[in-house]
Amino acid sequence: MKRALVCGGGGFIGAQLVKTLKREGYFVRAADLKRPEFAESAADEFLIGDLRDRDFAAWTAEGEFDELYQLAAEMGGAGYLFTGDHDVAVMSSTQINFNILNACAAGRIGSVFYSSSACVYPIHNQLNPNAPDCREDTAYPAAPDSEYGWEKLFSERLYQTYHRNLGVNIHIARYHNVFGPEGTWTGGREKAPAAICRKVAEARDGDSIEIWGDGRQTRTFLYVDDCLAATTSLARSTYAGPVNVGSEELVSIADLVDLVADIAGKRIEKRFVTGPTGVRGRRSDNRIAEEKLGWRPTIPLRVGLERTFAWIEEQVRASLKPHG
Ligand SMILES: NC(=O)c1ccc[n+]([C@@H]2O[C@H](COP(=O)([O-])OP(=O)(O)OC[C@H]3O[C@@H](n4cnc5c(N)ncnc54)[C@H](O)[C@@H]3O)[C@@H](O)[C@H]2O)c1
Repeated sequence: MKRALVCGGGGFIGAQLVKTLKREGYFVRAADLKRPEFAESAADEFLIGDLRDRDFAAWTAEGEFDELYQLAAEMGGAGYLFTGDHDVAVMSSTQINFNILNACAAGRIGSVFYSSSACVYPIHNQLNPNAPDCREDTAYPAAPDSEYGWEKLFSERLYQTYHRNLGVNIHIARYHNVFGPEGTWTGGREKAPAAICRKVAEARDGDSIEIWGDGRQTRTFLYVDDCLAATTSLARSTYAGPVNVGSEELVSIADLVDLVADIAGKRIEKRFVTGPTGVRGRRSDNRIAEEKLGWRPTIPLRVGLERTFAWIEEQVRASLKPHG
């Protein structure tokens, strides 16, 4: 039986990756600070602890694993990552990557996958909301717009160093805005699609909701199932360079609100307010993913949003129920 280790297996993508690997017949060990919030973990073993702690990380990676997925990181949406208030915590994720790589170099790990981010790309390539340039080789000269992006870029280099000097078999995905059911939807760490779904679910027909910025900033959003397919495919490939994993369906935040309102069947007014927004435009460029993995997204934005909205609406309804 193949064996996989999922670090960050209590998080949004990690918990669903565990399910995917279990469906494929893997033995799965997961490690995280916490268990998944919205469903029981499907993992065979779930270790709770801090992967910044060297001993815990070494204990986690003990044994033989065909695939190790490193998804653990201090994470959040614009309201968490782009205010600058959590940068010490954000930077501390580097310790997780050092610990995991040392465990990989010392142990019996077939392949290690690292979840980097589109936030590594330089600000100057993302000024035009309609024509952002996020080809993998444009990450240098480096100028990410947040410490989160710098942490991811530095950690990518760590993985590449361990690959070059110690022969660790690495794979690096640069995820672009992954969303779906069972993701954080409230509390300050939620990302734009979840926050918009929640605001629309809470609103009555004709209400207005607050949107950070002027709404003209653009992004692409990848449904979680597509992300999981790319993740396992990359981990099993022979390609060691960074690969964008995102959608190419560019949408402005204002249009995203209208799309969710349409799905909800509500008329929603938008109130644009000052807030952390990140770069003006960002779109995945999937040419390398297509060429090296034969991967491309299969789930249109609207379909992903319909599923996500339905789940978030249910969470909102449940949270409003009086507790007995
Ligand atoms: N979701 C996205 O849109 C997106 C985009 C780009 C990159 N990523 C990266 O993908 C990975 C997974 O993202 P996600 O959306 O599932 O985030 P998430 O916050 O839901 O999952 C991350 C998990 O890591 C765990 N963690 C954090 N610090 C830890 C520590 N010190 N020890 C043990 N566990 C720790 C958290 O408890 C959490 O469960 C992260 O590395 C994130 O930076 C995600």
